Amino acid sequence: MNKREIKSVLIDYNSLAELDKKHQELIQKAKEASETAYAPYSKFKVGAAVLLENGEIIQGNNQENAAYPSGLCAERVAIFYANSKYPNIAIQAVAITAITGKGFIKDPIPPCGSCLQVMLESEKRSDNSIRVLLYGEHKITVADSIKQFLPVNFNKEMLK
Ligand code: THU
Repeated sequence: MNKREIKSVLIDYNSLAELDKKHQELIQKAKEASETAYAPYSKFKVGAAVLLENGEIIQGNNQENAAYPSGLCAERVAIFYANSKYPNIAIQAVAITAITGKGFIKDPIPPCGSCLQVMLESEKRSDNSIRVLLYGEHKITVADSIKQFLPVNFNKEMLK
């Protein structure tokens, strides 16, 4: 028997001012994206902003549907668009936040499992870690890679 302990590192910041300017801007773009989410059913408006290696920022937000499973999370809307428009440009960072009935969330939310799996694929495909910035008004959580959230993951190496 061999017990494996898996550790993840997440860093919490108390204010935006503690982050560098580019990451502050990325969070601002995620906040902006959440304003135009289409979430009439959950009323949980998520915004994502993706920073590419060429400096471009791509925004996305959740798109819901009366046939519930047909909707898509903000992260995947943004990541799929980024990868479809710039298939050969690595993603450096992604910022995520959400608006509820009470305004911007106070504590950050992590991406759902499906979005993590999609972001992991982007990370592997360009062999480049994606920094994750989760914005809440009381706290900003930062991880240096998707692997911090999905340390045990299914990936393309396993299909060989
Ligand atoms: N949602 C996202 O956009 N991203 C996540 O990581 C979690 C959930 C959306 C899906 C749905 O439109 C709403 O939030 C409530 O689950």
